[in-house]
Amino acid sequence: MNIIETQDIAKRYVMGSEVIEALKSITIAVKKGEYVAFMGPSGSGKSTLMNIVGCLDTPTSGRYVLNGQDVSNMSENELAEVRNKEIGFVFQTFNLLPRQTSLENVALPLIYAGFNKADRTEKAMLALKNVGLDNRAGHRPNELSGGQRQRVAVARALVNDPSILLADEPTGNLDTKTSYEIMDLFDQIHSKGNTVIMVTHEEDIAEYAHRIIRLRDGLIETDRANENIRKARSLMQGVGEQ
Ligand SMILES: Nc1ncnc2c1ncn2[C@@H]1O[C@H](COP(=O)(O)OP(=O)(O)OP(=O)(O)O)[C@@H](O)[C@H]1O
Ligand SMILES: [Mg+2]
Repeated sequence: MNIIETQDIAKRYVMGSEVIEALKSITIAVKKGEYVAFMGPSGSGKSTLMNIVGCLDTPTSGRYVLNGQDVSNMSENELAEVRNKEIGFVFQTFNLLPRQTSLENVALPLIYAGFNKADRTEKAMLALKNVGLDNRAGHRPNELSGGQRQRVAVARALVNDPSILLADEPTGNLDTKTSYEIMDLFDQIHSKGNTVIMVTHEEDIAEYAHRIIRLRDGLIETDRANENIRKARSLMQGVGEQ
């Protein structure tokens, strides 16, 4: 079953007399449980497409069906509801609240979902444990390393048990070793049956994905299976992370 289906999606921005076609015509289908990387030069439309797929934005024209539901013309409120239920989002800059602890940051989406405090704490602790950070629950973002911050962001993205994890340049602010640790975590998330889509500039990061879609000037340039899947360390050696 296709969890994501876009049909001839376009996104146009009008800036004074200029019209910017960020996306011209994008048709893709992603099955449940796939692991996809969006690549392409700067300005090719990767973030625009991710934001539409993640229901943070709507296309100017075309159709987007998410998990069997047409979301192309939904209102802000309806989109927010779909987003809460279906999507976990991870950003390059982590986007954690600086004054809140790891536990509080991870628990935040559960407030909107209507869980009581005890349930929020329990679920958030479990999500932190799943990213190997239950021993950092009381730390604030500035008391964590970059990789740990991103793992807290991943825990927050997954705490509501969404069907899809979306990540826009998740390793863009991380060094190579830490980037691979985050990819290791993505592999674990994918191997549990989740659908994962990430945007990356880096070929070695894209190689973790099982399918690579390259964009250029708002169009799909290529869309192929990755013949050379890079395996995460922990899956190869059976070694967990600290
Ligand atoms: N809100 C906006 N208003 C006007 N133009 C925009 C807006 N957002 C994006 N664009 C334009 O749309 C095009 C695609 O932008 P997008 O951010 O999707 O690129 P990208 O592939 O993610 O690039 P990068 O690799 O640099 O992040 C660019 O030309 C950009 O300037
Ligand atoms: Mg971008």
